[in-house]
Amino acid sequence: MKTTVVHGRRFRLAVPEEQIKASVLRLARKIDQDYAAKNPFFLAVLNGSFLFAADLLREVRTECEISFIRVSSYHGTETTGVVSELMGLKEDIEGRHVIVLEDIIDTGNTLVKLQELLLAKKPASLRFGTLLFKPLAYKKDIPVDYIGMEVGNEFLIGYGLDYDGKARNLKDIYVLDEE
Ligand code: IMP
Ligand code: MG
Repeated sequence: MKTTVVHGRRFRLAVPEEQIKASVLRLARKIDQDYAAKNPFFLAVLNGSFLFAADLLREVRTECEISFIRVSSYHGTETTGVVSELMGLKEDIEGRHVIVLEDIIDTGNTLVKLQELLLAKKPASLRFGTLLFKPLAYKKDIPVDYIGMEVGNEFLIGYGLDYDGKARNLKDIYVLDEE
């Protein structure tokens, strides 16, 4: 069994590279079907989605564009509490068919903030794609249109996903092995 140690904790192989590739390819074909001649505008959410976005875009055949964003949380005034801010979006997405690319959707909190911030910019349509989805953790109503794989409520690393900054470079996805 393939294992790796990150920050002193042991992880075991959960999703091998070949399985990731197959999921990415399947999503690309579905997007090609859904967005033919729509010139979709992909927005990849950094940092986690950088590998997924790079691999997916190389499989998409429909004419498209991509840019990268970040969502940052900061404490505003005491009355407003935590505020979310969209960073890095320089392009005008008004009237565009936008597909947000995430590495993983867990509770969906990030998704809710992204939807609110992006809808304010009046895209023609807005959909969400993620390589990994945790159905048992997801508590929101927003549909996730493109899901690479469903996973359990476990902590995953690799292929963009980090544990305290490390392991984003791994080709496979690993799960925390608590035994
Ligand atoms: P959400 O807002 O709860 O959906 O969480 C989304 C973010 O939490 C992701 O974009 C990741 O950055 C992080 N996250 C959630 N689950 C994992 C995991 O299993 N491994 C690494 N990061 C995770
Ligand atoms: Mg993320």
